[in-house]
Order: sequence, then structure tokens, then C-alpha cells
Amino acid sequence: MKVTFSIIKADIGGWPGHCNVHPDLMEYATKKLGEAKESNLLIDFCVTHCGDDLQLIMTHTKGIDSTEVHQLAWNTFKEATEKISKPLQLYGAGQDLLKDAFSGNVKGLGPGCAEMEFTERKGEPVVAFMMDKTEPGAFNFPIFKMFADPFNTAGLVIDPSNHNGYVFEVWDILEHKHVMMNSPEEMYDILALIGAPGRYVVKRVYPKAGGKLPEKEAVAVISTDKLYEIAGQYVGKDDPAGVVRAQSGLPALGEVLEPFAFPYAVAGWMRGSHHGPMMPCAVEDSTPTRFDGPPRVIALGFQLAQGRLVGPCDLFKDKSYDYTRMKALEIADYFRRHGPFEPHRLSLDEMEYTTLPNVLKKLQNRFVKVE
Ligand code: F6R
Ligand code: MG
Ligand code: MG
Repeated sequence: MKVTFSIIKADIGGWPGHCNVHPDLMEYATKKLGEAKESNLLIDFCVTHCGDDLQLIMTHTKGIDSTEVHQLAWNTFKEATEKISKPLQLYGAGQDLLKDAFSGNVKGLGPGCAEMEFTERKGEPVVAFMMDKTEPGAFNFPIFKMFADPFNTAGLVIDPSNHNGYVFEVWDILEHKHVMMNSPEEMYDILALIGAPGRYVVKRVYPKAGGKLPEKEAVAVISTDKLYEIAGQYVGKDDPAGVVRAQSGLPALGEVLEPFAFPYAVAGWMRGSHHGPMMPCAVEDSTPTRFDGPPRVIALGFQLAQGRLVGPCDLFKDKSYDYTRMKALEIADYFRRHGPFEPHRLSLDEMEYTTLPNVLKKLQNRFVKVE
């Protein structure tokens, strides 16, 4: 059976500030998606949050970019904004609903979206990753580790069905182009691009031809929406989501989670303008408060049963990530001591959408040539 796994997410009002999602928003979304399940539009769903982002995890048979499913998500965000965020005056009510012109798809309107359609295997473990206070390129490091780094994924070396490697679909999010690249053959070229996560972003990973899995069915997908391009001005980072399938010829669940044992540095955090450590945490701990952060990631694991979501299992709740969290907090402290200095603050080109251009403009007539 072919199933579509969709995550559609939006910040439609923070509680308080940019910290958390109010329980009434979660309740409203649960009611809406429950009705859609009753009417057989959805097979199943799970409503959760990562920081201030409301996350709709849905399974169905409508394929990716389905008008009905996108309309459901859009209506849920719109109605919840009107009925809950606005009356409660939640912070930035309806923040990510940037355009009011739904015409079949949420793409380009503000919400983030990660979807893939695949043939469900007999045992189909799927992990929904959701990040807050960072950007889509924050997935580059862990996705590369999962599907291309033999020091992370033992299966690449010792499992014959992982051994041939994977195909990476890499997007240039500024030029709106993409390129398909083979790993391990082009590993260094892949790294040359995705080592610059503000520009090159891994969108999907595919199995190679001739393996156990259909080569056209993605095994990982990441949301790659860029909020500032939509709004024409800086409106915060577009906190990404991703879906990764695991086991039986793919990286094992533990290999999918292993990259997050290292609190690698990402762009985002306060005002979307700072580097900081990526901290894996349980859903209940995804409430970024210290300097609006540090950036964090949650992981919900499911077994699929004819599209039914058997779960969720809150994967980063596990004790074995305690050390990573301590390390992340130590690194957070280290970065914070830099205050407004790089490399805590992002570099100049990445600050283009903040007040910095205005500062330069104000000073432009006072700059004199150095003799
Ligand atoms: C970062 C983020 C927050 C806000 C900050 C200022 O992605 O959402 O750090 O940028 O709290 O928010 P405003 O400008 O809404 O007061
Ligand atoms: Mg927010
Ligand atoms: Mg957010």
C-alpha cells in the first residue's frame, strides 16, 4: 500500500512570546484533524508542537501536494488563529500565515511542509523531526551523517543493502535550483555545497537503483520554505521539519538518531540572528526560553500499520541524550559570552534582513576615505 506522510507546521501565535504553543490551539487542531479522519480524508494524525510551532503530522493516500490535505491544514491554522490566537492575544497571532491566497497548496504562503509518498513495508518505522529557532539547512549535518557517514551509520559499511549509498537532492534555496548527487561517489562535492547550510539544503534522500527499495520513493524529506523571501522582509527563521524512514536496508533507528548526540552549531536562536548549539529534547521540554533558545529538535517515532500512526514515541526523551543536553548548555554559555560579536551573531550577509542595512545607511555620509 502507498501511504503519504505529511508534516505541515506553522507558528500561529506564541505563548508567551515565541516560547510555546497554547494547549487550546493543540486541542482545536486535534478536533479538526479528528473530523478529517472521521470523513476518511486522513488515515491518521498526531498533533504536537515544537517550541512555538504547531505541528500537524498526517497520514493519507492523497499523495504529496494534495489540495484537500493542504486545505485542511490551512483552514486549521486560519480558524485556530481567529478563534483562539486572536481572542487570547497570543504573541504574533497568525504570524506564519503570510499570504491570504490559498489556491491548492500551502507552499509559498508561510507554513512549512515536509511530505513523502512511499510503499509501506511490513515493518515501517518513521521518525518525524521538528526543529525550533533555526533554519532548514540545520538538517544538512544530521541527514548527511545518517545517509553518508560510515562513522555514524555502521550499516553503510556492514549492511549489503545500505552499502551502495544514497542519492541526495540538494536545493540552492536562493537561486531556486536543485541538483541530484550520488553518495559516496560525490561525497566531497556534496559536502562542498551543504557545508553552507544557509544556501544549500538537502531536500530529499533517495535509495540507489537496484536495491531493496524503489529508487523513486524518498526515504527522507525536509521542509525548505524560506519565510523572508515570502514576506519580502525579515520575519524570523522558518523552523524546519523533516521525515526519515528507518531499518531494513535503511539506517537503523539508532543510526538515524545518532547525529543528534552531538550538539552541532546552527543559525537561528535569538531573533534568528545567532549561532548556537542544537539541543535534542523531549516534546515537553521544547520550550525555548534561554535567550529564546537554544535551538532545539524533537523526534517522534511511529510504526506505520496500513498508514495508521502507531505511536508517538518521544525519542529524545531517552536518558542517553542527557549528556548531549548538558554539553549543549555548556556550548550555549560559551556562545552567549560573545554577546553581539561574531561568530555568536551571524555574519554580515546573513544579517541582511535585520536592522544592519539601516545602520549602514544612516552612517553612509559619515564614512570618509582612509588615506
Ligand atoms: C527567533 C524568534 C525570536 C524573536 C524575538 C523577537 O526565531 O522567533 O527570537 O525573533 O523574540 O521577537 P519580536 O520581534 O516578535 O519581538
Ligand atoms: Mg514565533
Ligand atoms: Mg518557531
